[in-house]
Amino acid sequence: MSKFDIVFRNGLVIDGTGSSSYQADVGLKNDKIAEIGNIPLGLGDLELEINERVIAPGFIDAHTHDDRALISSPDMSAKASQGVTTVITGNCGISLAPLRLKNDPPPPLDLIGNRKDYKFTQMNDYLTALEEKPPALNAACLVGHSTLRVGAMDDLTKPANDEEIENMRKSLFAAIEDGAIGLSSGTFYPPAAAAPTSEIALLAEEVGKVGGVYTTHMRDEADHVLESIEESIQISQAGQVALIISHHKVTGKSNHGRTRETLPVILDAIKHGEVGLDVYPYIAASSILLADRAKNSERVRVTWSAALPDQAGRDLSDIAREMGVGLDETVARLSPAGAVYFMMDEADVQRVIKFPHTMIGSDGLPHDTHPHPRLWGTFPRVLGHYARDIGLFSLEEGVRRMTSLTADKFRLTNRGRLAPGFYADIVIFDPERIKDTATFENPTKQAAGIDRVYVNGVEVWQAGKPTVNRPGRALRRQELALEKQSQI
Ligand code: ZN
Ligand code: CU
Repeated sequence: MSKFDIVFRNGLVIDGTGSSSYQADVGLKNDKIAEIGNIPLGLGDLELEINERVIAPGFIDAHTHDDRALISSPDMSAKASQGVTTVITGNCGISLAPLRLKNDPPPPLDLIGNRKDYKFTQMNDYLTALEEKPPALNAACLVGHSTLRVGAMDDLTKPANDEEIENMRKSLFAAIEDGAIGLSSGTFYPPAAAAPTSEIALLAEEVGKVGGVYTTHMRDEADHVLESIEESIQISQAGQVALIISHHKVTGKSNHGRTRETLPVILDAIKHGEVGLDVYPYIAASSILLADRAKNSERVRVTWSAALPDQAGRDLSDIAREMGVGLDETVARLSPAGAVYFMMDEADVQRVIKFPHTMIGSDGLPHDTHPHPRLWGTFPRVLGHYARDIGLFSLEEGVRRMTSLTADKFRLTNRGRLAPGFYADIVIFDPERIKDTATFENPTKQAAGIDRVYVNGVEVWQAGKPTVNRPGRALRRQELALEKQSQI
């Protein structure tokens, strides 16, 4: 029996911690990294010369809506093609589980599934589905507060009453017991907008008790962004839970430049507690189509429309002109629908990307007809455009923000680093060629420069195509915690 299953020869090792790259061989055995260094020839079943290509930990997508994609598109090409090996699902308050629906899901729950997709009464049913028919990538799953609300409440326009809170606590507790890694909220969106701080704090407590995480699409990322950050910190303190501010940005022209105010507040919170944030590297947002949001944007492009599917990919203003009606009426005729909103400032986006505590998350919407290019482009865009071409930081630092930083913040034990004993989630890429090619016009174009991707020691992507392998795992909270204990 050979000492290694695979030996990668002469790679440029970027280990994910931010330290400088160096040349070495990397040996894998089973699902783990076994050795990094000078490995004598002939010790591997398979020996691959990688010719000074970068070998790095596979990227962890800190912010996804891949709950259903993991089941319906198990090759996960949109992400594997970028070098992603693990996705965090259930963000922005919406998760596919635990919820069984008889009616259509209210927006934005419809971003990730229709009535028939909401069929997992328990989180365990969902995680078991992933285990029975595994996807190519690993997944760690959050429970959405809006999902809990839809399951527990008849009237979403009100704060939850005591009984409803108790019911939500029970299903959250059960989901955490099943293996969810935490809670997400999205008070920006209608199903949770009526929830007061206290309602979420009570739920966050359940997560805090077991050392889970709480992520939030905040109530307001525009005029009241500072108040929203305060509210998020308040919830994390009350629930004694680690906080992650999702897709940090400031929206609307009048707020451009205000990351100069928000980042110092976040930095202060980081000094005093467990706080993190993620970002996607674009000046346009994407979500469901809402008239108010459209009014605050410089340009709006429709990404899908259930009522008028042919309009996907077109500018809202063109559609309105053609219909000869106002913006509100156009939105009403298209809805339910999704949109890309040009509403951020490039200087703000760069300031957030550059902030040393920022993780990279795509926030990609995998079921949109004409999606935002972040779905296919996020990770190569950070490494190619922002690190190499613009010089915001080194390649090593860029990799850190999508590997070890993310694994630490989400408590993904033994992932996110290239080191012996860590899982063999690996990406091999060309540092000269890595580049996003997906655009707002052509949003599903595969990124350039990604050679090979491995998940748990098994190849899932090679030379621009998915392999037939599906080695992804559901990363259940208890197993991560157990591994953590045995590490110490
Ligand atoms: Zn969001
Ligand atoms: Cu999101």
